[in-house]
Amino acid sequence: MQKWIMSGLFFAACAFAVILMFTLPGREQVAKQNNPTMPTVEADPAKAEQTVKANCISCHGDQLQGGVGPNLQQEGNNHNADQIYSIVSKGRGQMPSFKDKLAPEEIANVAMWLSEKK
Ligand code: HEC
Repeated sequence: MQKWIMSGLFFAACAFAVILMFTLPGREQVAKQNNPTMPTVEADPAKAEQTVKANCISCHGDQLQGGVGPNLQQEGNNHNADQIYSIVSKGRGQMPSFKDKLAPEEIANVAMWLSEKK
């Protein structure tokens, strides 16, 4: 008798796990689109500077002093790395999205670099 109860429980747990498998990824994906999560990367300031020179100074100035876009010399006071990652990935106002131009790891590295400018 107890065996039946145990296997019944086991079956229910399996069914629950299968349901979770199908429902959870969907929700995660939606969350990802609305608020991209920054990948964890090793900080590489030299590479960040290179990426910024190639992609950002046309609008933000060669000393990040600002131009078409705002001054980023003390961007760390305004936004943390996650927020900068989101702005650069998605774009904002006149600022274009970089998610098709730069790898997530490159954007993350730049975001960390800028967030330390205070
Ligand atoms: C085509 C011009 C342009 C380029 C290229 C550009 N930006 Fe911007 N950026 C802007 C503008 C304009 C804003 C202000 C957006 C707004 O109105 O909200 C901005 C805003 C920002 C902000 C938010 C500043 C704040 O404190 O509100 C960050 C951070 C930023 N840019 C980083 C970058 C980085 C990093 C790059 C290179 C990968 C880059 N931008 C390339 C035009 C640009």
